Amino acid sequence: MNCSTPSGWPVTSFNFPPWTNKIRPLVGVLGAGGLVYVTCLVTWGFSPKTTDVGYQPEQPIPYSHALHAGKLAIDCRYCHVAGSGAHASVPTTETCMNCHGMVKTKSAKLAPLRESWAKDEPVDWVKVHDLPDYVYFNHSAHIKRGVGCVSCHGRIDKMEVVAQEHTLSMGWCLDCHRNPEAHLRPQDLITVMDYTPERPQLELGAEIRQKNNINPPTDCSTCHR
Ligand code: HEC
Ligand code: HEC
Ligand code: HEC
Ligand code: HEC
Ligand code: HEC
Repeated sequence: MNCSTPSGWPVTSFNFPPWTNKIRPLVGVLGAGGLVYVTCLVTWGFSPKTTDVGYQPEQPIPYSHALHAGKLAIDCRYCHVAGSGAHASVPTTETCMNCHGMVKTKSAKLAPLRESWAKDEPVDWVKVHDLPDYVYFNHSAHIKRGVGCVSCHGRIDKMEVVAQEHTLSMGWCLDCHRNPEAHLRPQDLITVMDYTPERPQLELGAEIRQKNNINPPTDCSTCHR
């Protein structure tokens, strides 16, 4: 079925923004004309792929960021190459085996990891954050300009299981694109989760912005191309 939004934006997979919850009951009284729309709403609204704040799928291995990124203080970039590419990507089995070839080698929790290693097949990690396909996003465009991971993902180093912290809605993107000062920091500190600025954030942010000529675009073609 070819679903499109009320605004006519053509999409094949689509996560409705939270405000549609409010209008869902209303759609029922729209009658036959609203039928396709209702079907689309139901398909999208209740699809397990719908990502939202708090979305926290179960993972095939009980991997904990609180342990690895928090307690063991392994830098994010050891496992995620978010700094260099457009995509952050999840680590390969080999990255885990650098340690787990020696540490906790008998752990039952790590059985799926050893199986993945033996069979040379990747672990089926479940995606947590997932923008609709019609949105263009680029990690390195943010990282290299000094937007920290925590601004968009929250305190990952305290999460036993990763949960989505922000809506990832268009309004959320634009809020920061219009006023990035609140989120700019020295580029070498982007993975520091408990970063506290030496001076008032807005003052420092404005300075970094001016010095590096940071101007996040807000025209449609930035994110829809
Ligand atoms: C030892 C390796 C390792 C380290 C270090 C690590 N991660 Fe991860 N990360 C993973 C794995 C494995 C997954 C996929 C499973 C999951 O979601 O928990 C993941 C998932 C994520 C996700 C969710 C991805 C999605 O599907 O949307 C985010 C966001 C993330 N990590 C951010 C961070 C941040 C920020 C840091 C540093 C504070 C960090 N990670 C440190 C291994 C690591
Ligand atoms: C830099 C080393 C290092 C890397 C890389 C690493 N781990 Fe670990 N991991 C550890 C250590 C050390 C422990 C044990 C902590 C303890 O003493 O309980 C551990 C514990 C675990 C446990 C709990 C095991 C148990 O029986 O309690 C799981 C599950 C786990 N790691 C999964 C992973 C996965 C999946 C990856 C790859 C994404 C990974 N680890 C990468 C060092 C590492
Ligand atoms: C400006 C906001 C923003 C910042 C800063 C950011 N991320 Fe993300 N991240 C996202 C969004 C949005 C997605 C979903 C991308 C998609 O679905 O195409 C995502 C997805 C991910 C994923 C899932 C894999 C992927 O590429 O889709 C990982 C892992 C991740 N981020 C880790 C990190 C780490 C580590 C940092 C810091 C070095 C970081 N992110 C900084 C917004 C951000
Ligand atoms: C916390 C702040 C913040 C959030 C949230 C954020 N951005 Fe950005 N974005 C920036 C900054 C800062 C830049 C860099 C602007 C520059 O280089 O002048 C940027 C740049 C970009 C660029 C590259 C623009 C170009 O042509 O150079 C794209 C694409 C982009 N953002 C898309 C998104 C999307 C899509 C989202 C939401 C899913 C998002 N951003 C959320 C701050 C943010
Ligand atoms: C900084 C990134 C960014 C910019 C700039 C941007 N968008 Fe979006 N847009 C998004 C994201 C992210 C979504 C997905 C929202 C969701 O999944 O809830 C979206 C969704 C949409 C949708 C479908 C959802 C809805 O609200 O109906 C339309 C239509 C849309 N954008 C139109 C536009 C137009 C027109 C412009 C220019 C005026 C624009 N966008 C500029 C990021 C952006």
